[in-house]
Order: sequence, then C-alpha cells, then structure tokens
Amino acid sequence: MSKYGTIYEALGGAPAVRRLVEAFYPRVQKHPLIGPLFPEDINPVMEKQYMFLTQFFGGPSLYSDEYGHPMMRARHLAFEVTKERAEAWLGCMEEALEEIGVEPELRQFTIQRLSGPAFHFVNTP
Ligand code: HEM
Repeated sequence: MSKYGTIYEALGGAPAVRRLVEAFYPRVQKHPLIGPLFPEDINPVMEKQYMFLTQFFGGPSLYSDEYGHPMMRARHLAFEVTKERAEAWLGCMEEALEEIGVEPELRQFTIQRLSGPAFHFVNTP
C-alpha cells in the first residue's frame, strides 16, 4: 500500500468503511453457508466490524481501544469455520467492495489482505 498510503485512506476513510460494512452484512445474511451463523440482530456485529476493519485497514484503532487485543482467531473458535465458509466470507466482501464502487486493483489488494486472516480462522475440516 505504500504507493497509496493505507487501505483506509484509499477506500475513502470512515464513510467508506461504513458503507462497506452496510453492503457486506446483507450479503452475509443471505448466504446459505454463512448466514445461519449470525444473529438476527446484525447491528452489533456491524458496529464491531466497522471498528475492526477501520484499524485493520490502517485507520484509528477503534476496536482495540474498546475491546482490547482483537484475538480474532480465538473469537471465531465458537463457530465452525471451514475453507468454504472463508471463501464465502471473502466473496461477500468482494461484492460489497464492488457495490461501493472500489476499483478492481484496490478491490483485489483489499481482498488479498483479508484472505490471510480469513483462511487463518479456518478451524474445521
Ligand atoms: C472466514 C470466515 C468467517 C466467518 C464464517 C465469520 C463468522 C463470524 C461470526 C459468526 C461472528 C460472530 C457474530 C456474533 O457476534 O454472533 C463473527 C464475528 C466477527 N468477525 Fe468474523 N467470520 C469470518 C471471517 C472474518 C474475517 C476475515 C474478519 C476480519 C478480518 C472477521 C471479523 C469479525 C469481527 C470483527 C467480529 C466481531 C468480533 C467481536 O465479537 O468482537 N471475520 N464472525
């Protein structure tokens, strides 16, 4: 990202991360593989994801300031995360990035950065 600064800045800062999260979760909820894992009231999840992605993309450390060390893999152990579910999650994210108008190069870069954690969270064959 050195050529562009942070992903956070390249996407367009706080309003863009907000729009991204709002485009992402309706897709997640509709997805047959991952939708059933999430609670009906998605708003608290969206808020945490907004805070987490903000810092993951290089913006202010909103999530850690509120919740401490993210320990994201551990937080996902309560759910059966398979390779197929990681791919579904990333697929929803790629569509959300497209929906909010992120151009292909930045979209691919962002998905690549999220692929590391997504496959790292796989805990079920
Ligand atoms: C690999 C596939 C993934 C699946 C199936 C998945 C699923 C879930 C589920 C079911 C929750 C709990 C929702 C609840 O509160 O009941 C959750 C929480 C969360 N996930 Fe994921 N997730 C995945 C990948 C990711 C990735 C790649 C990230 C970020 C890089 C991420 C970030 C978060 C965050 C920030 C939370 C909220 C944690 C908290 O409670 O503080 N997830 N995820």
